[in-house]
Amino acid sequence: MAPEKPKSAIETLQVDVKKYPPPAAFAAQANAKPEIYDQELEAFWDKEAKSRISWFKPYHKVLEWNLPYAKWFVGGELNICYNCVDRHVEAGKGAKVAYYWEGEGVGERKTITYSDLLKDVVKLTNGLRKLGVKKGTHCGIYIAMVPELPVLMLALARIGAPFTVVFAGFSPDSLADRFNDMEVEFVFTQNEGLRGGKRLPLKANVDEALKQVPTVKKMVVYKRTDGATAMQVGRDLWWHDVTAGQSDDPKSCPCESLDSEHMLYLLYTSGTTAKPKGIMHTTGGYLVGTATTHHYIFDIKPDDVYWCAADIGWVTGHSYIVYGPLANGCTGVIYEGTPNFPNAERWWDIIERYKVSILYTAPTAIRAHMKWGPQHAAKHDLKSLRLLGSVGEPINPEAWEWYHEHIGGRRCPIVDTWWQTETGMILITPLPGITTLKPGSATKPFPGLVVAVVNDKGEEVPLGGGGYLVLKSPWPAMLRGIYKAPERYVQTYWSRFPGMYFAGDGARMDKDGDLWLMGRVDDVMNVSGHRISTIEVESALVDHPKVAEAAVCGRADALTGQAIVAFVTLKSGFEATPEMLAELREHVGKKIGALAKPANIVFTPDLPKTRSGKIMRRLLRDVAENRPLGDTTTLADAAVVKEIATRAVTEATQHEV
Ligand code: WT7
Repeated sequence: MAPEKPKSAIETLQVDVKKYPPPAAFAAQANAKPEIYDQELEAFWDKEAKSRISWFKPYHKVLEWNLPYAKWFVGGELNICYNCVDRHVEAGKGAKVAYYWEGEGVGERKTITYSDLLKDVVKLTNGLRKLGVKKGTHCGIYIAMVPELPVLMLALARIGAPFTVVFAGFSPDSLADRFNDMEVEFVFTQNEGLRGGKRLPLKANVDEALKQVPTVKKMVVYKRTDGATAMQVGRDLWWHDVTAGQSDDPKSCPCESLDSEHMLYLLYTSGTTAKPKGIMHTTGGYLVGTATTHHYIFDIKPDDVYWCAADIGWVTGHSYIVYGPLANGCTGVIYEGTPNFPNAERWWDIIERYKVSILYTAPTAIRAHMKWGPQHAAKHDLKSLRLLGSVGEPINPEAWEWYHEHIGGRRCPIVDTWWQTETGMILITPLPGITTLKPGSATKPFPGLVVAVVNDKGEEVPLGGGGYLVLKSPWPAMLRGIYKAPERYVQTYWSRFPGMYFAGDGARMDKDGDLWLMGRVDDVMNVSGHRISTIEVESALVDHPKVAEAAVCGRADALTGQAIVAFVTLKSGFEATPEMLAELREHVGKKIGALAKPANIVFTPDLPKTRSGKIMRRLLRDVAENRPLGDTTTLADAAVVKEIATRAVTEATQHEV
């Protein structure tokens, strides 16, 4: 059926939202059938867990829910690596491609079958066991988009050694914080990364970080480039030396039988304080949740070539490049570099060459492609695509339509998937073949999940009204806590609305029951789909010796969703110059990582404060967004706001990055 024409240009009023019913041909072959919504929560997950996952020891109970702590598949034992790799080879599917890997350098490619993957994992696991990595050994990972990263994540899962992957864009200080919090004993990195035509000094960053991490015993270094690499004798080992001479026979290297609730990994994410939270994910529920959602939401079929263009260093890559897809025996693509290296055709070239049928990416990437223009995609045959996905932030209807038309050729449904590092798996999403799509809406909760939009008092708001998104039932891949911070876990997610999980997002449910996500309601910004806390950036700024005070907020940005704006008061004797601006941006890059560098810095003699001394962020947000200023009567010094507003306008244009 042809999509309806919009009757009004003003979509924000929600009078006439465009609707895209599922194409009949897609619906006829879809994995998800409408009855999927009729099933009872535990019965649904019980069926999925039994049919989709191989258990070494059966569980005796699907769910034990002592709010806010859940245990799923209680008493069961399994191994994620076995489920993702060994069993496919045992079933005769060893020749199937697990990953097409595409290096950033043009022409650098590897095809990795499930048999290859098993051999690589087994060799590495044998090497790691020899080094002393055991069940329960904590490991830290700082590796970019090379096949060795999923191989390592599988090897550690095979052993039962919990790990944390730190995104390769983070700085040595950020690495040190995370490795210290987890008290890691083994660290894994690569000598250099390749991205955007540049070499990233990953090993050197780890060297710097480890000066502050006393628990580390060994570092294993994958040699990605021929760049000179300083190795510390007694601590550092080459990856190829660790695997040399090790057997690749899986019989030499059995998978540990692990309890369903055994910790798989920690992934650190920004909260509303300066200290990132170590989100805990475990084994059974996480694997069942990611594999099941991957199967239904991406409609995975044996012949699909699936490309999730996220970075494995974020949760999207953990759940939907590594564990979910491999558990389903799927063929995936991993691309090392940036979307426009060496030119803006790169992604479309990859899709054409591997005949990618499913593409999963973020609105910020779609908007970058929009900016570069549709002519790059038009030069390539994208007819293999049959389904598109979006994640990380609300997708604006304009980007949705562009993606639908220029990439999907108007034939591919788009699944706008809402979830979080904490949720581990997609929770709000269309099911392709069933759901009528509305550009900009993530539509419905995944089967079994109960979601509500509530007001300050926790009461459900009438349909159409805005409020806070809460989750009212548990789900298998849910976080099991914040590492070493049980009180923070309860306080952050379960205290604001007793009995419900508070996601930190604003939302609206329309009269069809479709959900429209409206962004974060806390002091967390979303820049290019990455979460950054305002306070983290403020602490990095005030850490600079010339800064007296800083306040940070997000403003809307056409490309990155939100951009970071910093208001900075310098210590007396220092001047606001372009050099100072560059110095402060660099400092934030060094403290946190390049992704946290403010887009604008507004220097101001003072910050607007209430009489009790609280910085008025609401006002700063208005200034940053260039909005008329609200109530200033509670301010200690009203004149300062006017001054800041004037400066913000002039300096934003001067220093836009
Ligand atoms: C926050 C979670 C989960 C993968 C990547 C981000 C925002 C995520 C959507 C979407 C609207 C979305 C939310 C959420 N978000 N997906 N489809 N529509 N907003 O993971 O870093 O844990 O961030 O990203 O604000 O709370 P994350």
